[in-house]
Amino acid sequence: MSGEKKKVGDGLQDVVATSSAICRIDIEDGRGVLEYRGYDIHDLAQNSNFEEVAYLLLFGELPRKKELELFKEELKERRDLPPQIIGLLTHLPPFTHPMVVLRTAISYLGSMDKYIHFKSHERSIEKAKSLIAKFPTIVAYHHRIRTGQNLIHPDFELGHAANFLYMLHGEVPSETEEKSLDLDLILHADHEFNASTFAARTAASTLADIYACVVAATGTLMGPLHGGASQRVMEMLREVAVPWRAESYVKEKLERGERIMGFGHRVYRQVMDPRTIELRVLAKKLAEEKEPKWVEISEAIAEAVYKYKGLLPNVDFYSASIYANLGIPDDLFINMFALSRISGWVSHIIEQYENNRLIRPRAQYIGADSREYKSLNGRK
Ligand code: COA
Repeated sequence: MSGEKKKVGDGLQDVVATSSAICRIDIEDGRGVLEYRGYDIHDLAQNSNFEEVAYLLLFGELPRKKELELFKEELKERRDLPPQIIGLLTHLPPFTHPMVVLRTAISYLGSMDKYIHFKSHERSIEKAKSLIAKFPTIVAYHHRIRTGQNLIHPDFELGHAANFLYMLHGEVPSETEEKSLDLDLILHADHEFNASTFAARTAASTLADIYACVVAATGTLMGPLHGGASQRVMEMLREVAVPWRAESYVKEKLERGERIMGFGHRVYRQVMDPRTIELRVLAKKLAEEKEPKWVEISEAIAEAVYKYKGLLPNVDFYSASIYANLGIPDDLFINMFALSRISGWVSHIIEQYENNRLIRPRAQYIGADSREYKSLNGRK
């Protein structure tokens, strides 16, 4: 094989790595399809809420009324953080990126779990609920600590999305703000074998503990080609500053051979990501009540990128305007993605544990031909 030196397709594009019953992505009749457990993302966006979606991903079925009430209670009961984690958040250097903080805190949580290596269905579900519930508290507490503000403890009257905004800002959000974040969380909850989920499943396939798998996923999400794109989109929106500057900005960037963050997708190559359709509507709606300029600049950028490169916006593009209008600091954007995607990660990890075979692909070798080792003195 090494003699041929012809490279196979990079990036595992279109490679089906293993099977899963959680999420379906497809392109049908020229439109992108995304389903969680068989339910269309547009239906879920219009009718569901994050807690219900998290339940659906974890258990495979929509909850009945009593089951949903119980699940919501269980999440609320698990929101608190042990004092050691609060101590950790206090002691990390103030310049630490919130995603690095998050993955460090997850690892620390693992060190405090006496049953860390137990992988029965019940134990895994328990850990999954705890992680989904604690993610918002970690992010909000750390932000309050690094900005010198008092901690706002979880409010058990509030749902998942509203409680996060309350803990972050110290004010109960408006109905529009709550619904906007809730919808954003629904849309980011799962996406088949995206890079972070694949990292989680690869770790799970070695039978590593759930915290290790989630740390792998969190680290992978942070990269600018994945969840890290939304923070860069916001930097771009700030740099462009006014809609009329968008076209020249995009043109020049593309001429320099640079990528425009928030555009392009490995799977939805010629069709619009169905999540982007929902997020665009949401971003525009929120802009009517808040600052309109972020969406206006976004629209101008999208038009220019399509004109000069034929690329469509992805899930990270309109998320940036939404987060900005929810008062989320730029460097928390990736964490926002993680607050939602944790529900997908844990569902995939459990699915992997329960039908496991080690994920261990091969690499096509394209390096030097076999050669003889030369001693140090014999090398030219
Ligand atoms: N800006 C400019 N050009 C882009 C681009 C972008 N955001 N995304 C893809 N392209 C171009 C590539 O340069 C390539 O052009 P070419 O054929 O002229 O060489 C072509 O589109 C195909 O891109 P490819 O590298 O095959 O895409 P991929 O499937 O490997 O990568 C992404 C997918 C998401 C990593 C890629 O689109 C990207 O880097 N996007 C920006 C980061 C981002 O928004 N990530 C969030 C993803 S949800």
